[in-house]
Amino acid sequence: MSKVAFITGVTGQDGGHLAGLLLGKGYRVVGMVRGQMEPSHPRYRQIQEDLPGVELVLADLLDPAALVRALSTVRPDEVYNLAAISHVGYSFHNPVLTHQVTGGGVLNMLEAIRAAGLADTARFYQASTSEMFGGLDYNRPSQGYDETALFHPRSPYGVAKLYGHWITCNYRESYGMHASSGILFNHEGERRGPEFVTRKISQAAARISLGKQHVLELGNLSAKRDWGYAGDYVEGMWLMLQQDEPGDYVLGTGEAHTIREFCGLAFAEVGIELEWRGEGPDETGVNRASGTTVIRVNPAFFRPAEVDILLADPSKAERVLGWKRRVDFSGLVKLMVAHDLEVERAGVRG
Ligand code: NAP
Ligand code: GDD
Repeated sequence: MSKVAFITGVTGQDGGHLAGLLLGKGYRVVGMVRGQMEPSHPRYRQIQEDLPGVELVLADLLDPAALVRALSTVRPDEVYNLAAISHVGYSFHNPVLTHQVTGGGVLNMLEAIRAAGLADTARFYQASTSEMFGGLDYNRPSQGYDETALFHPRSPYGVAKLYGHWITCNYRESYGMHASSGILFNHEGERRGPEFVTRKISQAAARISLGKQHVLELGNLSAKRDWGYAGDYVEGMWLMLQQDEPGDYVLGTGEAHTIREFCGLAFAEVGIELEWRGEGPDETGVNRASGTTVIRVNPAFFRPAEVDILLADPSKAERVLGWKRRVDFSGLVKLMVAHDLEVERAGVRG
């Protein structure tokens, strides 16, 4: 009998990678989709074409009864709760909705597992985040945040995720559920949404090199992130649920780079050497060969409170799970730009 996995957020970046991984391991994979369309609607064709074999079920994190119905029908062995409002900038504009979906949605999932009678059998993964650290534990950035570092979220998203993290710990302690929390640092790739900075940059580098776009507008160029490849991170999620005991694990690379550095590598991939001129909101990235400005700062992308640096110490995951990232920073940039060049040359968005 193959194991059954239930994935919320299957239409997102991580959902796609995880569904592919689990199908490859012989799981029956059921992905939860929301919205007013039936799972057979063309909007979901992409995921079905991309990952044939994923079954879709209709429910929403905000609808507890629908979650109970879905879980009672599917009766999964493993539940991966990846669904969330996941964009930090957006969460400042829609903080109440973020609180309900990204925070309260976790409670809805945990309660639905109990109501469906699965608390003793189903293993639960919660998609927690390095945004919970926020970057104000100034003793840490030089050595990296591990599972014992102080939390100090800096956005409505980070605060909502912290609730999700603690309610997961609480259900583990209160009801003995096999509930684990993966505290994941930024992970990117060819499935990343274009609203996130890495994909925005890789798409723009490809488009600018092909003459389809002139300028890329960005916010804070000095923020540092610990960026890895999403394909490596979903492996870590799966490993967490294969352990005898549930737990909390940091996944990251232990290396942090600025947005500026990401731009430099991405544009170099398309043959444009960048020169940085000016400072603050007047800073520009100039094509050294042509003297043309290809990057400029738009303060509209600044956040009311910023996380200056995120750096992981993933040694627990490496030691206990045997997890190790495979793709390094330059490999990540290369694969993202190569993908976007192919997509742009073919003239279709992907
Ligand atoms: P993503 O691409 O933004 O995907 C988010 C998913 O959540 C989408 O499938 C979306 O469905 C779904 N969703 C949103 N609201 C929902 C609702 N009310 N009910 C049901 N589904 C809903 O995110 P991701 O990058 O794959 O990240 C996966 C998870 O890991 C998220 O929880 C994120 O916060 C967390 N995380 C991500 C990173 C990272 O670097 N990627 C790092 C740490 C933690 P629609 O298609 O219908 O919008
Ligand atoms: N999105 C975006 N767009 N960010 C920009 C831009 C821009 O034009 N210009 C500069 N940035 C800066 C942001 O201010 C932030 O410091 C950094 O780039 C990364 O922004 P995002 O790519 O939006 O990611 P994030 O770090 O805020 O959040 C992502 O990683 C978290 C884990 O640390 C998301 O995937 C979250 O869901 C995840 O939890």
